[in-house]
Amino acid sequence: MILPITVYGDPVLRKVTANIDLSYQGLPELIENMFETMYNAEGVGLAAPQIGLLIRLFVVDLSPLGKDEPSLVGFRRVFINAKIIERNGDEELMEEGCLSIPGIHEEVFRKNHIRIQYLDPEGTAHNEVFTGYTARVLQHEYDHLDGIMFTDHCSPLKKRLLKRKLTDISKGITTATYRIKIPKI
Ligand code: NI
Repeated sequence: MILPITVYGDPVLRKVTANIDLSYQGLPELIENMFETMYNAEGVGLAAPQIGLLIRLFVVDLSPLGKDEPSLVGFRRVFINAKIIERNGDEELMEEGCLSIPGIHEEVFRKNHIRIQYLDPEGTAHNEVFTGYTARVLQHEYDHLDGIMFTDHCSPLKKRLLKRKLTDISKGITTATYRIKIPKI
């Protein structure tokens, strides 16, 4: 089932989320719905607050990036209760977008090397290092679990320039081609 995606201005995107038990009601169906919602919107990652849930869960599928990096084809993962325990390496500047901020793409600095602990849906604990584009996407999605949007990482000047567009999005004025939930503010 395709779910509506929350957009900039929705308070749910600014909250810190909570860990879940693997017995969380309807978890397998929720994960499937998140993938379906993400694919429908042509995204490579989707975090639970983007469908209105304040839980530490996000999904990614980096296959669309396979044109540039063939190793990413089939990189389809579910991250439950994720915790980034190391961030190091160089700061890299790269353009990002977000399904909750339709139509806006800006360059953001991120560390190019992370170590992350998480559970998969079967309950297996993982502790893995990711680099490059994968590390970027995981940091972007992880930020959503702590109420952080990628535009928060932009310079003060860039933030000022984006203000009008972000306000428009919060009023439902967007070019999104997928179903969104307009904030009630
Ligand atoms: Ni995002």
